[in-house]
Amino acid sequence: MKRNVTAVALALLTLAASAKQGVDPEMDKFINDLMGRMTLKERIGQLNLGGVGTPKVVGSAKGLDKAVKEGLVSSIGGFDPVAAEDVQRFAEDSMRVFIPMITGLDVVHGYYTTFPIPLGSSSSWNLGLLEESARVAAREATAFGINWTFAPMVDISRDPRWGRVAEGAGEDPYLGSLVAQAMVRGYQGDDLSDGETIMACTKHLVLYGASEAGRDYNTVSMDDVTAYNYFLPTYKAAFDAGAGSGMTSFNVVNGVPTTGNRKVMTELLRDQWGFDGFIVSDANAIAEMIEHGVGGPQEVAEMAINAGTDMDMSASLYVACLEKSVAEGRVGEEVINTACRRVLEAKYKLGLLKNPWLYYKNKDKRKEIVLSPGNLDVARRLARESVVLLKNSDKVLPLKPVKKIAVVGPMGQERAELLGCWSYGMSADTMSTFVEALAREVGPDTEVVYSQGSNWTEQPAIYKQGGEHPSDSLLMQAVKDVADADLIIATVGEPAVWSGEAHNLTNPDLAEAQKKLLYAMKETGKPVVVALFSGRPLVIEDIDKDFSTILQAWHGGTMAAEALADILTGKEAPSGKLTSTWPRNVGQIPLYYNALRTGRPYSGFWATTKYIDSTNDPLYPFGYGLSYNEYKYDNLRADKLQAKGEGDRIRVTVDVTNLGSMPGKEIVQLYVNDPVAKISRPVMELKDFAKIELAPGETRQVSFDVTPDKLKYYDSELKYGWDAGEFNIFVGPDSRKVEKLAVKWDK
Ligand code: NOJ
Repeated sequence: MKRNVTAVALALLTLAASAKQGVDPEMDKFINDLMGRMTLKERIGQLNLGGVGTPKVVGSAKGLDKAVKEGLVSSIGGFDPVAAEDVQRFAEDSMRVFIPMITGLDVVHGYYTTFPIPLGSSSSWNLGLLEESARVAAREATAFGINWTFAPMVDISRDPRWGRVAEGAGEDPYLGSLVAQAMVRGYQGDDLSDGETIMACTKHLVLYGASEAGRDYNTVSMDDVTAYNYFLPTYKAAFDAGAGSGMTSFNVVNGVPTTGNRKVMTELLRDQWGFDGFIVSDANAIAEMIEHGVGGPQEVAEMAINAGTDMDMSASLYVACLEKSVAEGRVGEEVINTACRRVLEAKYKLGLLKNPWLYYKNKDKRKEIVLSPGNLDVARRLARESVVLLKNSDKVLPLKPVKKIAVVGPMGQERAELLGCWSYGMSADTMSTFVEALAREVGPDTEVVYSQGSNWTEQPAIYKQGGEHPSDSLLMQAVKDVADADLIIATVGEPAVWSGEAHNLTNPDLAEAQKKLLYAMKETGKPVVVALFSGRPLVIEDIDKDFSTILQAWHGGTMAAEALADILTGKEAPSGKLTSTWPRNVGQIPLYYNALRTGRPYSGFWATTKYIDSTNDPLYPFGYGLSYNEYKYDNLRADKLQAKGEGDRIRVTVDVTNLGSMPGKEIVQLYVNDPVAKISRPVMELKDFAKIELAPGETRQVSFDVTPDKLKYYDSELKYGWDAGEFNIFVGPDSRKVEKLAVKWDK
């Protein structure tokens, strides 16, 4: 590192400003020394992320050279590892006080080895496997110099129209929190400076998943009780697990864009939750505050830094405006210093300040590290456990030996489409199509043929509408091609680009062209397996009514094809369960399981005033998913039905038996309900679960400890606590099929 620096008399000033000093005196000393040698301009430079937002690295060394040399770039988006490395080298050679860059990227569900989209992988409810997937992602990404991921996205959402439901873990704050923590542990490991771990970034702060009508970037309007009980816990959980950074969201909270919202960025995150890492704005979000109508460039930059947003992602407004703001007294220099210290602490914790080239230590091993057999195995296992069997009423699955299987539908011969949103396609060439994987899995005695049958859609408003041939002619061909097949597998749903950022749908139905294909296949009288691929819950009430065999395979990543073939052939029984409610129709949205009761009618789940044209209940409820086995739940009991005080616990036990003929995994779920409380409480809330393995015929006792912690909630004064009195505890295989135990808990 270069130290050809003139001492600047800033040491005292910078010492005064502290993120949270005293925890690591060695780090404090190192950073005090460093900041003491930096000018105000250079300290502001540490608050600038150059880059993310263009397809290649924004910083080829060339484009960024002036800014880098002047110390005005702190971190870069690393889409192109060669360019990112060039920037680092250029920085080392040219900066007056060299401070290594953080290299960030959206490593959302893997880097080379791609895992199922997060909504899919959350359906595994397998926290250990999720953690492993993040570990793999970190190891692959760090080999390319990336040391910061813009993940996990932990936004709770109740709206399948929103394209970004794909990126989260569904609608439940309890499960969502555990998934968030597993991902943070996986990314960051035990030692953030070992060169093979990456800093996590909890996003999007806050409430981003509740945009009106699923319109991305749009208005959020929410009461505090709802926010604190359902939408905020996942962010806090990720920070509690040690996530080193957080990202603002594009929406407003109480009318104020979050990026400039001091109540959120400072009072909630830091004062209430004790978060001491750094906050980066979402891409260009500081500049977008101008569009929100809260000021011009100078004002919004000041609003953001004073709110507690430490780093400006790609708007370049901090470097353009903040020196002036300090000179004119609207931003205190200590505010800049605190933000700068937080960024430098992150760099220190990442090991960068001591070794700028730490994340290039595995450069020569890239080929062995990425897509290794071990990594692919994690991807295959996670993809299998993400598949949710929605219907199997004719017991068509697992597949029985047949002579000929016809695969139809637009996903059958795709590779990159299987990867889903936020993937870089880097494994696409090595991947199998579903047709290839299935043919391998069923072996030479079964012929597997493919006929596309339809395009993704013929609707002009949607991406990827047409292919070379119109859907009608593909359909006519398919009807001929399937004529002598024994069974049809229809691979339908959405291509990757229909979900993800800014890709919302007003109607997440199956496209008309694909429906036509399905019904034409049904007409043949042959068994039809509907294999759905999508980045969101789909609205498929008609398909559910008319087809006996349906499974949801999401966008399953690098090993999606193999994993689905494993499930269909019965190599492994499906075990995934939905982490978001699937509505019957768009009009029901938002529909979620942890809803409040209403006064009319006064009992029963889903008991609100009825629609005239639809029932209120969902098509598939939260927690739902079938297996090839049946699991019997029996003998729900508690060691006592009355408890007293904060320290007490009730142990609830249920016997679960595998009545089927395959080994299988079952997700046993525990919910609670507080029938009389200070405020109206949901009909039920998930508070525990266990994913267990059962051999055929095996019975296992599954026990859960219920403690007052599981009964707590934020009341209308935002006080967190629990009420004495009666509680209902529910246990079952999903949120609807539950048995109840009534217990009493005194204070
Ligand atoms: C905007 C997205 O909202 C955010 O999730 C992402 O991390 C950044 N762009 C950077 O790519």
